[in-house]
Amino acid sequence: MKRTHTCNCLNTQDAGKEVTLVGWVNTVRDHGGLIFVDLRDRTGMTQIVFDPQKSEFADVGHRLKDESVIEIAGKVALRPAETVNKKLSTGEIEVIAQELTIHNVCAVLPFPLDDEQADKVNEDLRLTYRYLDLRRPRNFNLMNLRHRASMAVRNYLDEQGFLDVELPMLFKSTPEGAREFLVPSRLNPGEFYALSQSPQQYKQMLMVAGVERYYSLARCFRDEDLRADRQPEFTQIDLEMSFIDREDMYALIEGMLKRVWKDVLGVDIPTPFARMPFVEAMNRYGVDKPDTRFGLEIQDFSDVFKTSEFKVFASTVASGGVVKAFNAKGLADITQGELKNLEDTAKTLGAKGLAFIKAEKGEWKSPILKFLSDAEKAALKERLNIEDGDIVFFAALGWEKACAILGRVRLDSAQLLAARGKLTISPTQYNFLWVVDFPLMSYDEESGRYLSTHHPFTSPVAEDIPLLQTEPQKVRGQHYDIVLNGVELGGGSIRIHQPDVQKKIFEDVLKIPADVVESRFGYMLKAFHYGAPPHGGLAIGLDRLCAILGQRSSIRDVIAFPKTQRGQDLMANSPGPVTDKQLKDVHITRDLPL
Ligand code: AMO
Ligand code: AMP
Repeated sequence: MKRTHTCNCLNTQDAGKEVTLVGWVNTVRDHGGLIFVDLRDRTGMTQIVFDPQKSEFADVGHRLKDESVIEIAGKVALRPAETVNKKLSTGEIEVIAQELTIHNVCAVLPFPLDDEQADKVNEDLRLTYRYLDLRRPRNFNLMNLRHRASMAVRNYLDEQGFLDVELPMLFKSTPEGAREFLVPSRLNPGEFYALSQSPQQYKQMLMVAGVERYYSLARCFRDEDLRADRQPEFTQIDLEMSFIDREDMYALIEGMLKRVWKDVLGVDIPTPFARMPFVEAMNRYGVDKPDTRFGLEIQDFSDVFKTSEFKVFASTVASGGVVKAFNAKGLADITQGELKNLEDTAKTLGAKGLAFIKAEKGEWKSPILKFLSDAEKAALKERLNIEDGDIVFFAALGWEKACAILGRVRLDSAQLLAARGKLTISPTQYNFLWVVDFPLMSYDEESGRYLSTHHPFTSPVAEDIPLLQTEPQKVRGQHYDIVLNGVELGGGSIRIHQPDVQKKIFEDVLKIPADVVESRFGYMLKAFHYGAPPHGGLAIGLDRLCAILGQRSSIRDVIAFPKTQRGQDLMANSPGPVTDKQLKDVHITRDLPL
């Protein structure tokens, strides 16, 4: 027997045809006289009818366990009008079975596979049996969506003249970025590869090599703390171009995302995308990846409170900090528990407290109300449009922390408002945004030195280069992030291609000792002496992109075999132990207790 049709294609026109179908037993229903089986393959379902009067089908109802793999030959028949299933595209026909082969009997399932019930099952159990979880049509559709997104990207970039070049994953340690996975080298005792965090340096070398337009769907590895939008291995749509400026990159990426949305969702997204300077994003939304689908914008009240009776506010401004506030419109009915959660979140971000004012029944209520002058209240009321039912939150701290705290409280408040039906945040509204004009460097209190905002290969804005020596924090970088609905989809920059500028950044600004620069980046500085073209690039997180396209809140849902929060593959039991012999082969001994 050989499959003649898939399970989603037969219809009334096929009535009378002899067909052979294969697939999984989705459900078995015993209707007294007849046994009905929904046979499922990756395309859909067809109803098969067995007549137990036939001796070979006598005990078929017992033998056909859910999710067993079977093959049937039979004849397509029209269903009686009253049994037509409008929900199935094959719902007007059924196949009367004549022959049955059971290829594989399925054991008792660890969890039910229909979407509604499976979604309630503990994720660890689903990941342990990921091959079953993936069998669910919803999850197959997500894999298919990811495939279509990749194809759209590949087709578009191919048309734009990009070459797909595979770059090494075994690289070397460059600890300037994320924490790396180390791989011992058997052939070079005591030395290690690091799995590539991204093909950043290699793709720049391709530009020196004259490739001009490179892309790949690159696997990247970062040993980070994992969250819903972070995996230890993930995929980037990684690309690099020579002889371009930022405008060229914006146009290329807008065209690519337009193509992806069209091909995958059939949706036309308007271009060009909005642009917002980093400082404005921080001031209005409290983050560098603002979700602009709703307002609740943050405002600065430092001028109002610099002479306030409320000493917490006045002294913060006096010492160079800021007072910021936003109106969580309509959230005055926040519960004590919800308020406590917001306060705890604020505290984890460095807040001492989360001052608020509630407007209820024509009255303002607040622990800080007694400190506020009439003028201060009037300014708040007017600028924040405070009305009955509103609650205003404050943060008084250094600029960056105050922004970050209110940015987070804003997002959490929006969730609370959405849950109350007072705010709509639509997953199919796509607010693309370029965030631009990042500072090249920021000062890191902990290590007492400057760190690159993006990475050390990012080019400063040309006219700011003289400031590198004197006021590095004022130097703007030619860095851009592409943001969608509060998610950083990707980022990139125009690179440095002059060896002297690159050396200055490493040694004078980032204060990496000259010998370390030489051992880590010497080859790059050397390459820049051999005809390096001006170049720039960007990488988009394919997992994050697909999660948004598929309306999933976790990237795990769009990765075939994702790792858990603890970095484990529960199905294959990875990571796992190795023997002392294996370690010896790679010149490693255990001397630390496990
Ligand atoms: P960056 O580090 O910003 O840039 O990464 C680019 C994009 O990759 C995605 N991403 C991740 N996705 C899932 N899990 C992770 N752990 C993870 N980390 C990052 C994000 C992010 O925006 N080489 C530069 C790009 C360049 O300059 O060309 C780079 O890697 O969507
Ligand atoms: P206190 O006078 O310290 O009791 O603070 C009064 C209110 O202001 C309380 O609700 C605190 O949570 C809040 N608060 C204290 N410090 C800050 C700050 N730096 N920013 C915002 N709110 C604060």
